[in-house]
Amino acid sequence: MLDTTREIVDGLMQPLATVSPKYFYDARGSALFEEITRLPEYYPTRTERAIMQRHGAEIARRLGPGRTVIELGAGNCEKARELCEAIAASRFVALDISEEFLHQSVARLRAEMPSLDVRAVAADLSAEIVLPPEVPPEKRLVYYPGSSIGNFDPPQALALLTRMRHLLQDDGALLIGVDLRKDVAVLEAAYDDAAGVTAAFNLNVLTHLNRLIGSDFSLRDWRHRAFYNARASRIEMHLEAVADCAVQWAGGGRAFARGERIHTENSYKVDIEGFVHQLDEAGFKRTVVWTDERRWFAVVLACP
Ligand code: AVJ
Repeated sequence: MLDTTREIVDGLMQPLATVSPKYFYDARGSALFEEITRLPEYYPTRTERAIMQRHGAEIARRLGPGRTVIELGAGNCEKARELCEAIAASRFVALDISEEFLHQSVARLRAEMPSLDVRAVAADLSAEIVLPPEVPPEKRLVYYPGSSIGNFDPPQALALLTRMRHLLQDDGALLIGVDLRKDVAVLEAAYDDAAGVTAAFNLNVLTHLNRLIGSDFSLRDWRHRAFYNARASRIEMHLEAVADCAVQWAGGGRAFARGERIHTENSYKVDIEGFVHQLDEAGFKRTVVWTDERRWFAVVLACP
């Protein structure tokens, strides 16, 4: 059995079924996520962008020109283009799990910024991060915007930050976006929008699984659920069976009772102090934090 199949089937067979959020991002999932970032309810992308624009000059001054920007989960590469322009970067290494989507994005970026040396790497951040040998070790900037770190629980997030630290020499830096705790109604609307784009994004994982493991999930049997879990400080997304149903795949299957759920995503919301402490534990000793007026989102520059 393929590793991917085993990982997915293991999750589906848990008493409380789970699927990793990395499986959202097939080509359609990446496009739906792009649509989410433009929704009125989804504040993270535009809030982070405003922080970056407001403090771009200071960020550029602190980093200096000639950096190699390494973005984890580059997606459409739009944020990277703005950052690379603002700080006069020399090189850009785009990592993403959605390979086809990444190659299209990178082709567009190369056309827009012909003087930037651009490289695409298909990568799963939950595994080891391996950069091509030609990426110079000096003056690296790891860029992890969008609060994607929020997909990882605190121990996993610490492990990932530590792996980022290991990509850097002492002249390296990390620029990372995190989503902050806020009013529950604001959070829940952002993950359950009126137009139903987040619902389509969540349900699309089943279509992706059908292709990956040959399962026969019927999307009509499932509905989108998103809520804030205050105790764990995270938004949870689930798919909930609307009727008793069953799913088969090669060599197995499972029945779900009406109301049973598949847990598809956690999106942790942090406080700045706690996050800065976590960065310190990962070996980032100097940090600068920028936030918006409402303190909904933070951009942190962290250095060894
Ligand atoms: C890409 C992980 C940052 O958690 O806000 C958006 C994914 N899920 N809407 C987030 C997501 C539902 C997003 N991240």
